[in-house]
Amino acid sequence: MKKKLFLGIGLLFLLVACHSYKNIPTADTSTDWKSKVIPPSPQQQGGDPEKGLQYMFSGEYVGSGIPYELFEKQGKKLAKKAPLSNNFNEDIPYFVSVFEVANGEKVVSGNCFSCHAATVNGEVILGLGNYASDFRNNLSAFGKAIKTTMRVKYGKDSPEWAAYENFSNFFAATTDAIETHQVGVNPAARLAEACMKQRNPIDLTYSKTAFYEIDDYNIASDVPPLWNAKKKNALYYTGIGRGDFTKLLMQASVLGSPDSTHARTVQQNFVDVLAWINQLEPPAYPYPIDKALASEGKALFEDHCSKCHGTYGEVETYPNKVVALSVIQTDPLYLNYAMTSGITDWYNKSWFATSSPHSELRSYEGYVAPPLDGIWATAPYLHNGAVPTLEDLLNSEQRPKFWQRDISDYDFDEQKVGWKYEVKSNGSGKKTYDTTIPGYGNMGHYFGDKLTSSERKAVIEYLKTL
Ligand code: HEC
Ligand code: HEC
Repeated sequence: MKKKLFLGIGLLFLLVACHSYKNIPTADTSTDWKSKVIPPSPQQQGGDPEKGLQYMFSGEYVGSGIPYELFEKQGKKLAKKAPLSNNFNEDIPYFVSVFEVANGEKVVSGNCFSCHAATVNGEVILGLGNYASDFRNNLSAFGKAIKTTMRVKYGKDSPEWAAYENFSNFFAATTDAIETHQVGVNPAARLAEACMKQRNPIDLTYSKTAFYEIDDYNIASDVPPLWNAKKKNALYYTGIGRGDFTKLLMQASVLGSPDSTHARTVQQNFVDVLAWINQLEPPAYPYPIDKALASEGKALFEDHCSKCHGTYGEVETYPNKVVALSVIQTDPLYLNYAMTSGITDWYNKSWFATSSPHSELRSYEGYVAPPLDGIWATAPYLHNGAVPTLEDLLNSEQRPKFWQRDISDYDFDEQKVGWKYEVKSNGSGKKTYDTTIPGYGNMGHYFGDKLTSSERKAVIEYLKTL
């Protein structure tokens, strides 16, 4: 009896500990300005979009990986189930790349489309953020199992091991950092942070000791669509990605890169990747649109929204504004995180910043007002994906605190525009989005509250046309 009680108290303690979310970073985000315009920086020109797409599907940018023969059988199975196979290898799904590393070994790893593609009405849309990813499981046991297989099957002196070692080292450094609190959010920022801390900033080689510490709290975000990057002067929700985009884009993808010599080859190929991203267009709204209502909505949008989000149609403008936290009032944690992370200093001293073309991490204390092209397809909304539909976004009182969707398919709500969802009474469901977890709040962006409900309908009708 005593033992049981003890166990019970122990468990309770554990639960309390889990829910107190220790070590959440805070930063001074008070500002005396309301918004700032991000200036443009020079970008690499003249890339070939077709080559860029091919490189994203099958290039060697991840730098190392698991031997293809270990994955071949499973790859074929996955490819059969996936709605799209890799353009350049029918035997693997679109989100996996098979490539040769410098010693000639053929390896596999995930590619950009594991996070930057998703299915709408049964069709895979390249460039749409993957709304269905699930990073709630810790992958360290998986990493260890692969390592044991590698040691037993090939041995540490084999060429297979040489082609895998960097991947293994960096992967092991990231597994605890990328376990998310809920389904559908993406830990790419943590992945970059955890991976880069093990790299020598000058030559990018692996170092057993970390160059900076990272927080315990695992923050994650929604995934932005890639077709907006061409309008932007800085990348990422916080606008922290400044300077040359080819260098910035590599960051999340060079997980297993051996060194800066390899990184240089990747950067040169990313001129083509950038060209592919720059020609990407959003998918058109696939259902009927009430044109008269949409044109009423256009006028309202231009009065209430354009100063931050720009204009669309015949006159395309985009102001590239970062909006201060005191004005936007959305969840501050992702921004706090970016402002306090050791990756900023590391990055600004590293090969990424010191060699040409120059890139850097520099934030203003706010969130970027994004372009709204293809906004109908990119639910859930806000940087943390806390709001399931446009109607909820534009009427803050209507936003659900706990909501659940059928994450296996894009269950589209034509009325509210976004995800069909069920309101829950608490966050206990495995697939429930819980807005009470730090970093996942649905507060802020109250600009739609000023509209009447018929005005809101008109604005939403207009948003379908973008
Ligand atoms: C593990 C998932 C993941 C992978 C892999 C990944 N990304 Fe991303 N990407 C993200 C997330 C999440 C963001 C948003 C981060 C932020 O804004 O703070 C992002 C942001 C971006 C942006 C900025 C968009 C904007 O509007 O600011 C671009 C462009 C981009 N990624 C391109 C790529 C390319 C190209 C690759 C492959 C070489 C890639 N990403 C690999 C998850 C990923
Ligand atoms: C003062 C500037 C400002 C005004 C005015 C403004 N917005 Fe925003 N909007 C933002 C910012 C900043 C974000 C990103 C906030 C975040 O993710 O935390 C945003 C996000 C959004 C998003 C979600 C984007 C996404 O990809 O998740 C939509 C949709 C949107 N706004 C529509 C509107 C509409 C419609 C209006 C007019 C009724 C409007 N906004 C007025 C600054 C503004």
